[in-house]
Amino acid sequence: MFTSRRGFLRSLGGGVVATAAARRALAGAYNARNFEPSRSPESDGLILLNSNENVYGPSPRVVEIVKSSDLSINRYPRPDYKSLVERIATADHVKPEQVLLGCGSTEILRMAAFSFLDKGKQLLQGLPTFEAIEHYARATGAEVVSVPLARDFSHDLDGMLAHVTASTTLVYICNPNNPTATLTPRSDLEAFISKLPPSAHVVIDEAYHHYAGQSGMYASFIDRPLDDNNVIVARTFSKVFGLAGLRLGYAVASPNVVQQMRKFATEDNINTIASQVVGAALDDTASVNDFIRRNQNDRQEFFNQAMARALKPIDSHANFVMMNTFHPAQEIIDVFRKSKILIGRRFPTMDTYIRVSLGRPEEMLAFWRTWDALPYPKGSMHH
Ligand SMILES: Cc1ncc(COP(=O)(O)O)c(C=O)c1O
Repeated sequence: MFTSRRGFLRSLGGGVVATAAARRALAGAYNARNFEPSRSPESDGLILLNSNENVYGPSPRVVEIVKSSDLSINRYPRPDYKSLVERIATADHVKPEQVLLGCGSTEILRMAAFSFLDKGKQLLQGLPTFEAIEHYARATGAEVVSVPLARDFSHDLDGMLAHVTASTTLVYICNPNNPTATLTPRSDLEAFISKLPPSAHVVIDEAYHHYAGQSGMYASFIDRPLDDNNVIVARTFSKVFGLAGLRLGYAVASPNVVQQMRKFATEDNINTIASQVVGAALDDTASVNDFIRRNQNDRQEFFNQAMARALKPIDSHANFVMMNTFHPAQEIIDVFRKSKILIGRRFPTMDTYIRVSLGRPEEMLAFWRTWDALPYPKGSMHH
């Protein structure tokens, strides 16, 4: 336990924070397409089961604002940054000085990489995991150490600890993890974080938080914070809020870390439209709950369909499912593409697994029709 990691929550008052709950890279350092496949205009007529979006979102109230407003988009954005930050801080029961906005949580990941990495430093992460931060880390000249996930596809935290050195200045934990949709237990994460040296910052990426549910296994590090200056939680409006196209994400961290990271923010990183709908998106909790419920139904139906075919997908805590096909994933991806269905890309070390984002029921019927027509034996019962 490093006592120097402690302290900012206390400094924010009373020792207890209420518990309740880039796209544009630096000078071509990286290209978003390296880690997420086509979300492009050619998508017309395609079924998109490839980017873990919310097919039911956004809130109708958000749609109404976008349709009715005179948004003056000939002007540069003049978001009232302060009230935006306050609105998010209120929703998350944190102080405004703990909130940093980004152009998607991708920009948060970029700011973290550029704030805490450099040549001679090291990013430590699981494998496979969401790859944006790795691309930015490499752009800084830092080394990237990727430790394969454990057999149950949680982070192998002991294996990761074994790689921690004095130059490990950034650790990335995606929870629930993309692409596996798995959780790493809360208590294990707490033990892990307490063993990190004070020089290491930790990004906990909670992009899929709302789909994870509350359990002994999972609690958000925003809802149940550690008193640790080096923990940065990344969140996004792209998933349950259904606003992926508006590019809005944020970090919750200690005020010092927020100030440090802000230096790497893109100027005018919050667009006019995003800034005007955040309040409505957060206020419409009925819609959020509805999206969560629909996802639960869709996920259950996916597992029912899989089981009927003797398939065993990895238990999912998100809005997508990863499944072993016992066949080269790229070939399956290509067959689906020919049927106008985009599924997730191939992920390193999991060459026979496919990642399927949950779509609307009729889209999933099309998925299973294509699956059943695959021209080779499928599923675990053949192996
Ligand atoms: C784990 C994770 N983090 C971050 C992101 C980036 O999302 P955005 O930049 O839209 O907030 C994604 C997108 O798929 C993701 O899966």
